[in-house]
Amino acid sequence: MSGEITLFKFIAAGTFVLTLTAYAADEPRQPTAPGIESPGYTWNQIADEQMIALMAVGDPDHGAVVFEVCAGCHGMAALGTDDGAYPRLAGQHASVLIKELTDIRSGVRDNPKMFPFADQHVISTKEVADIAAYLTGLPVSADQGQGPGSDLERGERLYRKDCVKCHGRAGEGDAESFYPKLAGQHYAYLLRQVRNIHGGLRRNADPQMVEATGGYAEADMESVSDYISRLPLVGDAQP
Ligand code: HEC
Ligand code: HEC
Repeated sequence: MSGEITLFKFIAAGTFVLTLTAYAADEPRQPTAPGIESPGYTWNQIADEQMIALMAVGDPDHGAVVFEVCAGCHGMAALGTDDGAYPRLAGQHASVLIKELTDIRSGVRDNPKMFPFADQHVISTKEVADIAAYLTGLPVSADQGQGPGSDLERGERLYRKDCVKCHGRAGEGDAESFYPKLAGQHYAYLLRQVRNIHGGLRRNADPQMVEATGGYAEADMESVSDYISRLPLVGDAQP
């Protein structure tokens, strides 16, 4: 009874409400940095943290330890989930992993759910490099989630015409140019990204790629993602 009275007094004084507000403020919220929607946006304007992480020599063993906080979503082997909710990170170029992580930390790529786990208070800038060094060396299995396979001819035609010049014939990407490796990635994640790129929602995207997908209908986005999800892991696409 006295407990209830105390609680009542708290609410009456507004203290309870204040306490809740303070608690909510403790949760790290992802900041927002200007992206593709902003006039004057330049893709991959290498920011301070990205530069420091790129120049650091990553320690894969320490990266493996730090990655534990990420494994809950991306999986212990960093292979994500077949339904594409969580992307594969294994075997991705270290430069790309560093760019994506620092873009999420600065808020130029939206990912409010991941942010609290990947923020400065959990992972230092050096540890960003360590994680990237660990992930890039992990093996990729060829059992990724694939599309329905209903229009692969169209997918192949579009991929060759619009995507190969950056992502490569085998979907191997290009570490030096920060072009992600796409081979081995889950279909549903690829499709979500292509839709986001097309719709301007992937705010850290390369405007040239937005242009490449500019005229795409939904069926084009599906078939090109389907084709990519079936690229064999050969040559440079293999870690
Ligand atoms: C709460 C779940 C969650 C946690 C924990 C998490 N992530 Fe993520 N991460 C995601 C989701 C979801 C995406 C894809 C978001 C999208 O669709 O754009 C993602 C995307 C990424 C990407 C971009 C991949 C790409 O191909 O562009 C990187 C890199 C990444 N995460 C690294 C990490 C690291 C490193 C950690 C640990 C420090 C971590 N994540 C923790 C959910 C999570
Ligand atoms: C001008 C070079 C260029 C072209 C052309 C291009 N891309 Fe990209 N693509 C990029 C870059 C750069 C990124 C990474 C963007 C970033 O986060 O900085 C990317 C990211 C992606 C991603 C997300 C990968 C991930 O791990 O999150 C997908 C999917 C993708 N591209 C598909 C395509 C498709 C499909 C085409 C052809 C229709 C295409 N791209 C054409 C440069 C290009």
